Amino acid sequence: MHDTSEPGSAGTSGRPDFNRLLVAVRETVRRGASRDQTLQELSALLKDAVPHYDWVGFYLVDPAADRELVLGPYAGAPTDHTRIPFGRGICGQAAATEQTFIVQDVSREGNYLSCSPDVQSEIVVPIRRDGKVIGELDIDSHALAPFTPEDRAFLERVCADLTALF
Ligand code: SME
Repeated sequence: MHDTSEPGSAGTSGRPDFNRLLVAVRETVRRGASRDQTLQELSALLKDAVPHYDWVGFYLVDPAADRELVLGPYAGAPTDHTRIPFGRGICGQAAATEQTFIVQDVSREGNYLSCSPDVQSEIVVPIRRDGKVIGELDIDSHALAPFTPEDRAFLERVCADLTALF
């Protein structure tokens, strides 16, 4: 049977096919474009393939600043939060704790930087090299509590593959 669906698009279960999407992510990384071009393509790939990913982007640790993140490539609406100190917001907390940070309902998170009133939930996954956080993948969703353990495992595998770009 000829399959014309996008990589990772929902199958009959209605859930994204994360295994298939991971293959597409790895192909994108392997193609060897510049780091920023690759991160741009991955942002679009993930946003288009997963219905509950409404904003997908990367924050990178600024080597010239003291524990500060700077906005990198993204797909979705522009954001005012172009620089975020470690510890501030969900992004800054993920960087400071070096752990994946999932907020299923942003209205219940006191340390949160709002980009849009449409956003209801967020997941941030650190990218590490030599044990240090060098950036992170940030995903906002307009759905409440959409992130499953499968999302987390998939996104952590994606971020493990991205170390090679830095
Ligand atoms: N909401 C994030 C800020 C970045 S935007 O989601 C793009 C936070 O609380 O850190």
